[in-house]
Amino acid sequence: MTQNVTAAPTTGSPSAGEWWRDAVIYQVYPRSFADGNGDGMGDLPGITARLPYLRDLGVDAVWLSPFYASPQADAGYDVADYRAVDPVFGTLADADDLVRETHALGLRFIVDIVPNHCSDRHEWFQEALREGPGSAARDRFHFRAGRGADGALPPNDWESVFGGPAWTRVEDGQWYLHLFAAEQPDFNWDNQDVHDEFRSVLRFWLDLGVDGFRIDVAHGLVKAPGLPDIGHAEQVKLLGKQAVPYFDQDGVHEIYRDWRRILDAYGTGNGTERIAVAEAWTPTVERSALYLRRGELHQAFNFEYLTTGWDAAALRAVIDRSLAAMNAVDAPATWVLSNHDVVRHATRFADGDEVRGLRRARAATLLMLALPGSAYLYQGEELGLPEVTELPDEVRQDPAFFRGSGQDGTRDGCRVPLPWSGERPPFGFGPVEGGPSWLPQPDSWKDLSVAAQTGVPGSTLEFYRRALAVRRAHPALGAGRDIAWVPSPEGVLAFRRTTSAGSFVCTTNLSASPVTVPTPGTLLLASAHVVPGAGPDAAGTVLPADSTVWWAA
Ligand code: GLC
Repeated sequence: MTQNVTAAPTTGSPSAGEWWRDAVIYQVYPRSFADGNGDGMGDLPGITARLPYLRDLGVDAVWLSPFYASPQADAGYDVADYRAVDPVFGTLADADDLVRETHALGLRFIVDIVPNHCSDRHEWFQEALREGPGSAARDRFHFRAGRGADGALPPNDWESVFGGPAWTRVEDGQWYLHLFAAEQPDFNWDNQDVHDEFRSVLRFWLDLGVDGFRIDVAHGLVKAPGLPDIGHAEQVKLLGKQAVPYFDQDGVHEIYRDWRRILDAYGTGNGTERIAVAEAWTPTVERSALYLRRGELHQAFNFEYLTTGWDAAALRAVIDRSLAAMNAVDAPATWVLSNHDVVRHATRFADGDEVRGLRRARAATLLMLALPGSAYLYQGEELGLPEVTELPDEVRQDPAFFRGSGQDGTRDGCRVPLPWSGERPPFGFGPVEGGPSWLPQPDSWKDLSVAAQTGVPGSTLEFYRRALAVRRAHPALGAGRDIAWVPSPEGVLAFRRTTSAGSFVCTTNLSASPVTVPTPGTLLLASAHVVPGAGPDAAGTVLPADSTVWWAA
């Protein structure tokens, strides 16, 4: 059960200054957030109509996954026109409304940009196919002759992140590179047209008023010269854990220095910054920090944190390393537990027991929101949604599923449309009861809907709202850059944060049994039912298994 606390009301307006340093950013996955027109697919007007929900939740910014014109071979991460909205999601006027309305509610608005690859329906790729080998149009992509007799073998041994070879052969015999699906040809960033085009695309969305970009596959744009073989077939399994010639090449940094100049031209200081966050699955947080050096990007996702299990020692180590790496380049650390590519954390932490999973997910969220830096939430985690593991094959759409490997095999289970209200699917996702939703929702989600949880003490939704309100009200949360670990029993993580306005302690019991800890101050919020011991250090407080407590101390 959530404890009651006194906290300033949520105003919905992000702080001025470098707003992004401690921002809580909420990821909206457009096809699964809210369906305004009843076709079973989420859309921009649906999101606009639900913005007050996000303001009331208490986040600072909204990041939208792609809504651009796309054949949807990879749910919109295959972009056919970077300046157009896909009709499935609405129109450019709808995007404009959405940006304005988001700002009117005091929230920032971040869009995805997909510069590593486009759709095979993009006019440049179509032109490249038409114009043939040796043409200027082909040079915007990675076209090569094959190996072996008749060039029937791919030019090198690279594997697609989604499984299978990273090369597809076209009619005239050449092959083109695609690190993801065959419908997603990789751009050649040695070609000046590509640089010019993305500068222009950035300006297009900045002119529309967006506050920043999440850069898709930010580590992939530059490939090692000569596209050398890797030499073994364990590439997908080892993704992010080993250096490969197609990811995290030093050359990418020049691109981001260029982009930073564009962003800065639109505003610096006093809350006017336009920001960029890198989706860079690098082998270490230290490699991720390179993207955040002076004159480069503002943030990078902390995937090392996301992939760390429910383990006190491992979490402590990754927190320490993240803060050290980010502080060294004067960038905020970021924290994330779920997104549209990974199994939801309520299920990841469950070890086969959903109740335990939710308990740990709430404790993990409270720990994450206590850390200095910026935090990312993925739609539905505030409802405690689990991964949907029982989807029938015929409804699945993730290309990774069809290519037989990669990124947990399938990512549809975290993309099931949100339940908003009502007794029957689509639970208010669309306007009509019993209407369609592009993936089916489990019947049990009626108890997890926004309406079912609103105003219910102890519900996960009210818990998130309270946590975000306390974080906003308490100066020692989020802001700053350091923590001080408090000596704790094995399986318990406790740290103190001190500012001129006061001190704060966060204690997490990651062990499977209750633990008694000294009571450091006044209980602010707990992820489970906790009865505080009386007074600072006067008596111990029993922390249930898998729980986090925030204290004003
Ligand atoms: C990123 C996206 C993922 C997409 C891939 C290819 O990893 O988050 O959803 O499939 O890039 O664009």
